[in-house]
Amino acid sequence: MNLLKALTKIPFLNRLSLRTKLLSSFLFVVIVGGILSSLIGTQLVANTIVLQAQNKVKYDLSTARLVYQEALNHVRYVVQLTAAGRTIPHYLESGRLKNLTDYLIKRRKEFGLDVLTLTDAKGKVIIRTYHPFQGGDDRSADPLIQRARQKEIVASTAIVPREELELEGSDLAERAFIIPVPTLKAKEYPGEQEGMGMMLKAAVPVLDDAGRLLGVLYGGVLLNRNYQIVDKVRALLYGEGRYKGKDMGTATIFLGGLRISTNVRDEKGQRAIGTRVSREVYEAVIEKGELWEDRAFVVKDWYITAYEPIRDLRGKIVGVLYVGMLEAPYIDLRNKVVFSFFGIGVLGVFLVLMLSFFITTGIIRPLREMVWATRKIAEGHYSLELPISFKDEIGQLAESFNHMLVRLQQTRKELEDYGRTLEEKVEQRSQQLKKIQMQLMQSEKLASLGRLASGVAHEINSPLTGILTFSHLLMRKLKDNPELQRELELIVKETTRVSTIVRGLLDFAHESKPQKRPCNINALILHTISLLEHQTVFHDIRIVKNLDPQVPLVLLDANQVQQVFMNILLNAADAMPAGGTLTITSNLAAEDSYVQVRFADTGTGISEKDLGKIFDPFFTTKADKKGTGLGLAVSYGIIDRHRGKIEVHSEEGKGTTFTIKLPLQASEEVPPL
Ligand SMILES: Nc1ncnc2c1ncn2[C@@H]1O[C@H](COP(=O)(O)OP(=O)(O)OP(=O)(O)O)[C@@H](O)[C@H]1O
Ligand SMILES: [Mg+2]
Repeated sequence: MNLLKALTKIPFLNRLSLRTKLLSSFLFVVIVGGILSSLIGTQLVANTIVLQAQNKVKYDLSTARLVYQEALNHVRYVVQLTAAGRTIPHYLESGRLKNLTDYLIKRRKEFGLDVLTLTDAKGKVIIRTYHPFQGGDDRSADPLIQRARQKEIVASTAIVPREELELEGSDLAERAFIIPVPTLKAKEYPGEQEGMGMMLKAAVPVLDDAGRLLGVLYGGVLLNRNYQIVDKVRALLYGEGRYKGKDMGTATIFLGGLRISTNVRDEKGQRAIGTRVSREVYEAVIEKGELWEDRAFVVKDWYITAYEPIRDLRGKIVGVLYVGMLEAPYIDLRNKVVFSFFGIGVLGVFLVLMLSFFITTGIIRPLREMVWATRKIAEGHYSLELPISFKDEIGQLAESFNHMLVRLQQTRKELEDYGRTLEEKVEQRSQQLKKIQMQLMQSEKLASLGRLASGVAHEINSPLTGILTFSHLLMRKLKDNPELQRELELIVKETTRVSTIVRGLLDFAHESKPQKRPCNINALILHTISLLEHQTVFHDIRIVKNLDPQVPLVLLDANQVQQVFMNILLNAADAMPAGGTLTITSNLAAEDSYVQVRFADTGTGISEKDLGKIFDPFFTTKADKKGTGLGLAVSYGIIDRHRGKIEVHSEEGKGTTFTIKLPLQASEEVPPL
C-alpha cells in the first residue's frame, strides 16, 4: 500500500491514463517474464547443444585412439609375422645375408612399413631394408630393442632422432623435417622437436629352434606427413562432411606440440603441418598429462575438441592425439534456437499486447462512459442511463451510478417544484402584506382624521344647538311675518344639514359605541332593502338576492350595520342612474369563520386613482353637494369596530363590488379609536 501511495506521488505516473497504466503493467510482466524465460531457456538449450557436441567429441577421441592403437598393432603384428618361423634363423645360420635382405625388403614393402631392421643379439644392426642400407651401428640403447632382447614382443610410439632417421632411410629424415609455422594462440616453438620423427614402432626377438636369441627384428611406420591414421579417423567419424567450405571434423597427431599429421587445413587449403597446439592445451595435455575436452582454437577456427597425450614405451608423453568438430554448426544451431526463442518471445509480447489492448478496452469502456455521463450531468443532462454489460465491480459501479442518477433527477424535480411553490407562496405572502399595510395606513389615516373631526364636531355642536333653538323660538314669535318665516326656515334647514354632518362626524369618530346583539344578517339585509327600494333612485334597479339561509347569527349592533348597508345600497343606486342590477350575496366563509356580505352593482365603477380615497372622510364625487363624502368613512369605522373588514373591487365602466366580512367570534369590546 505504501508503495502505491508513493507511486501516486510521481507526477508522470499520475498523468498516465488508466489504459496506459494497465497496458504497461501487462507489458512489464510479459517482457520481464519473457526475457527471463528466454535467457534461461536459451542458456539451457545452448548448454545442452554444446554439451552434446562435447560428448560426441569425447567418444570420437576414443575412436581415434582405437584407430591409432590398431595401426600400432598392425606394425607389431607384421614385424612379429616376419620374425616368426624358420626363415630368418635359417638365413642367419647359413650366412646367406643377401637372401635375408631380399626377404626383409620384400616383407617391408608388402606390409607397408617405413623401417624394417634386423640387429644381432647385442643390438648391433645387421640388415637395414631401406636406402642407404647402412648397418653396424649399435641400437641396444633403444628401449624397445632392450625389451625385445629380453625376448619380449613390444610395440609403442617412439621418437626417432634425425640421425637415426638418416640411418634408417635418408628420405625418412627428409619427410620428418617440418618447418614450424607460427599461428594465432599457438604455443611458442621450443625447437626441441625439429627434425625428429614419430614412429609406430615394434620390436620382436628372433630365436633359434632352441629358443636362443639370435637377434632383434624391429619395424616401424613414420607418422610425420603420414595421413593414413588421421584420414581414417575423419572418414570414420565425419565422412566427407563439410560446413560452409570447412571440414566438419578433423584429427591430428602431434609430436610434442607440433602438428606432424593432420587433416586440419590452413588458409591456403593445405594440411596445416608445422602448426602448433595452443598454449593452454599444451600446458594441460603435455605438461600435466590431462585429457582436454573443451573448445579450442585450432589453426584458424574454433573447434569443439578433445586431446589426449600419446606416451612412449616408458610412459613419457611424446605427443598428442586430437579430434575436433567444427564449432560453427553448433553455434549456428544454438543461435537459431536463441533467435527462435526471441522470435517467439517478441511474437508473444505482441500477442499479449494486442490481447491486453482489447481486454483493457473492454474494462475501461464502461468507465469512459461514466466519465462522459458525469460531464453530461454537469452540463445539465440528467436523463441518462449507463448500459450494464457485466456483473463485475464496474457493472456494480454503473448500477450505483444509474441509481444515483435517478435519485439526482428526483431531488432536482423536488427542488424545482419547491422553488416554484416558493415563488407562489412569496407572491401570496407579499400580497397579503401589501393589503395589511394598506389597511394599516387607512386605519391610521382615519384615526387621526377621527380625532380632528371629533374636536371640531364638539366645538360646533353647542353653538349649532343654540342657533337651532333660537331659530325655532324666532319662528314661533314671527308667525305673522311670512317673509322672515321663510328666511328663518332656510336658516333651520341649513343648520339641520350642518347638524347632520356633525352627527356624521361624531359617528365617524366612534363617539357612539356599538350595542351588539345576536342578529340574523339576512333579515337585516332584507329590512334595509325594504326601507329603500321604494325610493325613486331604485326604480330602474333590479335587486338580486343570493342569501344563504345557513348563515349563522352574528353578534353586532344592528342599527350601525344597517347604516353601513344603507350607505352602500345608496352609493350603488347613485352609480347606476340609468338603472342596472344590484346583486346581494350572503354566505359563510368557513375557512376564516367570517360571515360575508357582498354588494355587486353594474354601475360606473371607480377610477384607479379614486379607489384609494373612497374611505377618506369628505371624499365625494357627487359634486351637486348631495353627498357629504362621509358615508364610506363612517361605514369603515363601524365595520372596523366590529373587528370586520370592508373591501372594494371595482372596474371602471363595469361595476363595483363591496364585500363586508364580519367575524363570528366578535366577542370583546372594541376599543375606541
Ligand atoms: N357603488 C359605487 N359606485 C361608484 N362610486 C361609488 C360607489 N360607492 C361609492 N362611490 C364613490 O365614493 C365616494 C364616497 O362615497 P361616500 O358614500 O363616502 O360619500 P357620498 O356618497 O359621496 O356622500 P354621502 O354618502 O354623504 O351621500 C362617492 O362620492 C363615489 O364617488
Ligand atoms: Mg354615500
